[in-house]
Amino acid sequence: MSKLVVEGGNRLEGSIRIPGAKNTVLPILAATIISGKESVIEDCPEIKDVELTVEILKNLGCKIKREGRTLTVDSSDISDYTIKEELMDKMRSSIILTGAILARMKKAKTTYPGGCELGLRPIDLHIKAFKELNISVVEEGGYIMFDGENAHSGDIHLAFPSVGATENIMLVATTIKGTTKIINAAKEPEISDLADFLNKMGCRVLGAGTSVITIEGADSFSNVNHTLIPDRIVAATVMAAAAVTGSTVEINNVNTEHIGAVISAFREMGVLVFKTMDNSVVVSAAGRIKPLNLLRTSPYPGFPTDAQSIITSVLSVADGTSIVIENIFEQRFKHTEELIKMGADVTVDGRCAVIKGVDRLKGAKVSARDLRSGAALVVAGLCADGFTEIDNLYHIDRGYENTLLDLREIGAKITKV
Ligand code: UD1
Repeated sequence: MSKLVVEGGNRLEGSIRIPGAKNTVLPILAATIISGKESVIEDCPEIKDVELTVEILKNLGCKIKREGRTLTVDSSDISDYTIKEELMDKMRSSIILTGAILARMKKAKTTYPGGCELGLRPIDLHIKAFKELNISVVEEGGYIMFDGENAHSGDIHLAFPSVGATENIMLVATTIKGTTKIINAAKEPEISDLADFLNKMGCRVLGAGTSVITIEGADSFSNVNHTLIPDRIVAATVMAAAAVTGSTVEINNVNTEHIGAVISAFREMGVLVFKTMDNSVVVSAAGRIKPLNLLRTSPYPGFPTDAQSIITSVLSVADGTSIVIENIFEQRFKHTEELIKMGADVTVDGRCAVIKGVDRLKGAKVSARDLRSGAALVVAGLCADGFTEIDNLYHIDRGYENTLLDLREIGAKITKV
């Protein structure tokens, strides 16, 4: 089994480019199913979750070509509506494919989704919304069968602004006659990017980025060429790497609006963050990190849950005590058990972590427990004394290109063995 070995204590310098966002490429790949045309996706990240989604699309009958960072999907010959169990198991976000498959085929067949181990990750909001659009949902022999032959438009009030449920409703509504309205929709930038893609395809999606989104069904679509928004969580990871190593790093291809809450937290920790050009920032840190009195994760535009583990690593070497409250997912503090092996002083009680900053972390053998906790351990390793060995790299590969080895471009000493 391969491991990352991170040598701590080295300054970083130089510039690094952020790739297209994982959380936007997945729903957009799903959306390519709907049109029966050719979709060209630019700046497509080379990560495991994309590979898995591509595999699912090929299984359904799509023809897919990758040339560097450009992915072309031709969905004209789709013939199947089943997502195989072994593929569904590997990725929770595969649930959003059901909305797209239903929009195209009027039927879909899946199992319950797998993916990141972040505690209970139900799909009740997706199912409830489908039923409200008169899509029948029946469990049979371990499979979930969706039938959208009699689907009709309607108003859907989400009990929580779930990102995945908002995407799934947007996708399924693209071919339902009339106007479907989502109330209390998620406002994440990935939702707006999906809406942009759908509108280029010939749909009429209004209100993305606000809490009310309307989708008017269409019956013909066109070819699309779309460049993905940059990955805001990869940007947050590089910022954390610069912060813990007391470095100055330029980050290119970043949308500062999308990471407003993250920039604000880093500034509160005493890290300088300034915009150099439209899509570049310089992050500069020196001396001890200041603690955060209270950091709460919340839906966009609040502080993203996906950056919580990464920032916990930074706070573990802050000059004082910080409190972090995780409001989105249970069990998203698994990385703290690993950080403790590196000498961090963290106490977790339910959704709350109290982090007493220590002078130094020390290298240790640790395990990536989920995607972002893996990245958090790389960040911790960069400032620890000695060598940190990280295993379970498949988690990191789901969402970071080249197992984060690209940090070597800015001087990080990381090897994969
Ligand atoms: C997406 C992101 C993930 C991010 C999360 C929150 C993708 C591929 N993943 O995940 O990286 O951490 O948004 O920003 O885009 N919930 C229910 N019932 C449901 C659906 C969700 O109770 O039917 C709950 C979840 O258990 C969780 C919360 O709602 O507690 C947020 O989930 P959601 O916004 O749906 O996240 P995902 O779309 O899974």
